Amino acid sequence: MIYKIVRYGNPVLEERCDPIGEAEFGTEELKQLVADMFDTMYAAKGVGLAAPQIGLKKRLTVIDPTSGEKQGERIVLINPEILSKEGKITEEEGCLSIPGFREPVSRAKKTRVKAQDAHGNWFELEGEDLLSRAIQHENDHLDGVLFIHRLSPLKRDLIRRKIRRLQKAGEWD
Ligand code: NI
Repeated sequence: MIYKIVRYGNPVLEERCDPIGEAEFGTEELKQLVADMFDTMYAAKGVGLAAPQIGLKKRLTVIDPTSGEKQGERIVLINPEILSKEGKITEEEGCLSIPGFREPVSRAKKTRVKAQDAHGNWFELEGEDLLSRAIQHENDHLDGVLFIHRLSPLKRDLIRRKIRRLQKAGEWD
């Protein structure tokens, strides 16, 4: 099933998400949710998607840095915790919940994260460049932080004003 992606303005995007509980690991519901999140992300041509973007306040994200090319690297991060960050790189970044807007955002070049898989097993992953950026961007979503929160107040307000105009025109839902 492909979910409708929640857009900026919906409060669920700016709330802190709750951890996935032990009872949910290994269930058909969780496996189906993960599969649906990948389907939704691929349909939208994104490289990452976090549960709040489909309206769920859960600490769950899916990432595929090869999305658009081969859809070959399915990464599921549940209850992720960033262990370390290294270096800095500034690249244009966007978000499926803020379509049409891309801005340069500084992120760590390398990120090490630990997370649980859909069965509850903990693992560690190190990402560099695009994967590092995706891990940080998706992890931010779970704390209610969007990439526009990482821009200067001036740029952020400019984007907010443009979005408000789109909302008034009925072109943002
Ligand atoms: Ni996003």
